[in-house]
Amino acid sequence: MVLVRFAFLVAVFVAAFVITKVQADEPAVRLATVEAPRAAAVPHRNGMFLGAAVHGPALDARGYRAALVQHFTAVTPENGLKLAPHWRPGGFDWSEADAIAKVARDGGLGMRLHTLVWEQPDGLLPGMAQLSPETCRARLTDHIRATMDRYADVAVSVDVVNEPLNHRGAVTMTRWTKCLDADVFDLAFRTARAALDARGRYDVALAINEFGTLSPGPKTDALWRLVRDLRARGVPVDTVGFQAHLTVDDAPTRAQLVATFRRFADEGFKVEVTELDVSVASRRLSPAAALARQAQIAEDVVSACLEGAGARCAGVTTWGVTDAWAWRRREVPGTRDTPVLLDEDGRPKPMYNAISGLLAAASPR
Ligand code: XIL
Repeated sequence: MVLVRFAFLVAVFVAAFVITKVQADEPAVRLATVEAPRAAAVPHRNGMFLGAAVHGPALDARGYRAALVQHFTAVTPENGLKLAPHWRPGGFDWSEADAIAKVARDGGLGMRLHTLVWEQPDGLLPGMAQLSPETCRARLTDHIRATMDRYADVAVSVDVVNEPLNHRGAVTMTRWTKCLDADVFDLAFRTARAALDARGRYDVALAINEFGTLSPGPKTDALWRLVRDLRARGVPVDTVGFQAHLTVDDAPTRAQLVATFRRFADEGFKVEVTELDVSVASRRLSPAAALARQAQIAEDVVSACLEGAGARCAGVTTWGVTDAWAWRRREVPGTRDTPVLLDEDGRPKPMYNAISGLLAAASPR
């Protein structure tokens, strides 16, 4: 009898030990799969990055790469991941994005993946109006998985959906929803999340990126409703990206910026400023005053992100590395605009100095 009792106690003890061990082991197993890619992943100063959009053809221009690596902690391929310019009959041409990813990997920078679903011509699958829903779905989901697999080690965030709303705040994704015959937000976000999770990159944030939503108004309200509705349906949206293409004559006030960033952060979303540039073309300011105003606007945007979103302010990206190669200089004919943080020779401008201190002082996140 004593023996039976003893055997029973031993059995209970062993069972309890096994159960505890299994439970204790679960997180360890999970951590092991998380840690490998994380170790390879790129840290960014204080966990808050200062990024720049990279124009692929400029990578070999004198001083461009050095300025990028010296002053920034993340890159965004400006056009290198857009579908239409890189889609070939045999598959996507990764060469531009790969070259940018190599700079990031070699230099210890993070990479924002821009962008997967966009209704603008650059963002469309060639011939998508003629595709069957099955083909359309396969092309998009294959492309999303391939993008995530290719850059999972270096990614910090992903613009899964770009510019979903028109000026009035209505969703404009009809080319995608028709082609797929399905909810494109749901499909794209879930596909991206699953691909990143499979590689242990639970920390890469998935974003909706929008313009014209820095101040209160109908479009900002519409964006707020959209991201809340998506999340309520279980769609894994982590981050709201605010583009911030501004001009010295027309920028939101700091109070408006704080209110907007706070509103989204209070709902649990991370906030990123994704495409900051400030045109100095002015109807009323002298060139010197415009440069000073440009720095002030950049400071307002970044300090408002830190104040409004706190630790949820995840990063700031400027739309161009140097003035010489910035979008607004290259593609607005007849201008010599100087819209970004570094001058034509890659030297920091007042705008850079106005925000670099704020970022360096930001608490770890
Ligand atoms: C722009 C690029 O900078 C240009 O080179 C290209 O011709 C058009 O697209 N919002 C976005 C970016 O989300 O992808 C756009 O980039 C600028 C506006």
